[in-house]
Amino acid sequence: MASTSTDLVSEILKLKKQRNAVILAHNYQTADIQELADFVGDSLGLSYKAAETGADVIAFCGVHFMGETAKIVSPAKTVVIPDMDAGCSLSDSCPADRLAAYLDEHRERNYYVIAYINCSAGVKALADVICTSGNAVKIVEATPKDRNILFVPDQNLGAWVMEKTGRPMDLWRGNCYVHVEFTRDSIARIRAEYPGAKVVAHPECTHAVRLLADEVCSTEKMIGYCRDSAAKEFVIVTESGMLHRLRREVPGKVFIPGPTDLCSCADCSYMKLNTLEKLRNCLADLRPEITIPEKIRAKAEVSVRRMLEISR
Ligand code: 13P
Ligand code: SF4
Repeated sequence: MASTSTDLVSEILKLKKQRNAVILAHNYQTADIQELADFVGDSLGLSYKAAETGADVIAFCGVHFMGETAKIVSPAKTVVIPDMDAGCSLSDSCPADRLAAYLDEHRERNYYVIAYINCSAGVKALADVICTSGNAVKIVEATPKDRNILFVPDQNLGAWVMEKTGRPMDLWRGNCYVHVEFTRDSIARIRAEYPGAKVVAHPECTHAVRLLADEVCSTEKMIGYCRDSAAKEFVIVTESGMLHRLRREVPGKVFIPGPTDLCSCADCSYMKLNTLEKLRNCLADLRPEITIPEKIRAKAEVSVRRMLEISR
């Protein structure tokens, strides 16, 4: 007989105690996972939690690169993820061997490489510093003025940071398949339908969509913006999981998912691979486990720690 979700939740909580585990969940996880996680947050907040936890096991409900980041900063811990296939189109758009070849071909540029956290451990190992959407402006502003910057892998986030800082950067041509599904037309239509609503967009959206937004920020900053704003209605232009977090933490306000041309909201199919059942299994079996060759992990840790220090 299949377990009910109440059975699963109690099994997960029991296993969590037995394993001395912490459950970290990204804002894009389904409501049932967010509800039982010890911490729900954006990539930046989750990196700090992973670095600071006293638990023996980290069960990371997000995507593969997030589990890798946890392992990079907490190598002595066992890091498990519910589904090994939970990847990321953005991370895939910049394979480490292609980045290494590019840097080799452009040695005369002596690049300072800033890698958005949505990338593999191999790419992090090649970078000088990591950033998230929550601290990208600060990280770019802290970059030595005499260096040419190569920003990988998200060209939309990179373009947004250039606008905010005025600092020129060479951009890798990667993007997130979810955020580029929002279009100028789909957002203009919902704006017209809810004229009193503020439009809040993630910086992974295209320039055309960002131009229609009242606020562009990371998933975590969306909470503060919606809480502090006098407005009562908000169109949230990012992955649909964010709506649960907002409804839970900013009660009394109305959150409308940003639509695409084809759908009334946008789901990341990788994030949505995680289920309570798979979370239970990964805590029970301690598999799938994140492992990273030590040489790569140690190099990647330097660039992640640099980010954590700058953005404190
Ligand atoms: P945040 O860092 O804003 O949580 O974004 C992560 C992500 O995967 C966006 O698509
Ligand atoms: Fe990657 Fe986009 Fe999914 Fe975020 S929403 S994990 S960037 S594919």
